[in-house]
Amino acid sequence: MKALVLSGGTGTRLRPLTHSMPKQLMPVAGRPILLHCLDNIRAIGITEVGIVVGEHAEAIEAAVGDGSALGLDITYLRQEAPLGLAHCVLLARDFLGADDFVLYLGDNVLVPGIAEAAADFRRRRPAAQLMLAKVADPRAYGVAELESDGRIRALVEKPRQPRSDLAVIGVYFFTPAVHAAVRATTPSDRGELEITDAIGRLLHTGQRVVGAEYAGYWKDAGSPDDLLESNRVLLAAVRAEVRGTVDRATALHGPVVIEEGAVVTRSQLTGPVVIGAGSRVNGSTVGPHVTLGRECLLQDAGISDSIVLDGVSIQGVRGLSGSLIGRSATVRTAGPAHRRLIIGDHCRAEVAA
Ligand code: G1P
Repeated sequence: MKALVLSGGTGTRLRPLTHSMPKQLMPVAGRPILLHCLDNIRAIGITEVGIVVGEHAEAIEAAVGDGSALGLDITYLRQEAPLGLAHCVLLARDFLGADDFVLYLGDNVLVPGIAEAAADFRRRRPAAQLMLAKVADPRAYGVAELESDGRIRALVEKPRQPRSDLAVIGVYFFTPAVHAAVRATTPSDRGELEITDAIGRLLHTGQRVVGAEYAGYWKDAGSPDDLLESNRVLLAAVRAEVRGTVDRATALHGPVVIEEGAVVTRSQLTGPVVIGAGSRVNGSTVGPHVTLGRECLLQDAGISDSIVLDGVSIQGVRGLSGSLIGRSATVRTAGPAHRRLIIGDHCRAEVAA
């Protein structure tokens, strides 16, 4: 069995961060989302992985490499334009060959992974097996209607009037039967080859398509709040580990990870927290639920429930919470009557009233 991981897409809801980096590389619990996806794939015994990349190909290849560090053998497949999920399967045809495969959207967070679904698929080998989750507003997803025996009765992509609250999670299991269905699919109203249409074709040709509600935690981490929630959930599993330096005037509570080369002095850290390699934290209060990137500076800062990317400097500002701070940004105090902002396109700043 192989895996096809999709890591293209534009990530509009995560602007401005996604102007310069793909959403799949947004760090949650100290690592890019994409690496958490690859962990779940490795955990079901798959080693041959194709990653479909688009305009951010270089950044993704730099972060993931050839996969050997993860115990994977990775092949990159270039998609010139975002033409849909079924188009990705089409362009991966040679890579996939005659194998069964799992199609995994590289911005989907699933805790604790996909082992149960994979075991079901391997046992029963339906033409397609979907993972489903109840959502409050199904209109943003593929929506499935399920029979009591687990067969899918109907499937609609982003329906205006959903007939169920079961959204299709971005992890699909297929036998090679899907290839003929994909070849027969035509572009949708949004101009894409929809995987939902290809699965609909399997249904119409009488092939077995099954689905089951996922018992774990799932999020399609496309917006800041979704990303922060995923960060909290994945951080809950980290174990304390200090590879950097912590002075005696610092107190660590709960699971705190301090990566190599990081230096923490005169601070209060309340886990779960990850302090990225080479960062300096002094006189600061951090946590719970903070992912701090590499080479950051926190000086007299206070931050909880936040994701801070690499190279950020926060000085003299406390009470930060629910924040997502992009690479090499500076957050610091100004004069008493000052609120000075130099922020890029699509940013959002919220200050005390
Ligand atoms: C895609 C699929 C949709 C599925 C969703 C899960 O939507 O088309 O059926 O429910 O992923 O993340 P997209 O993210 O392309 O809008």
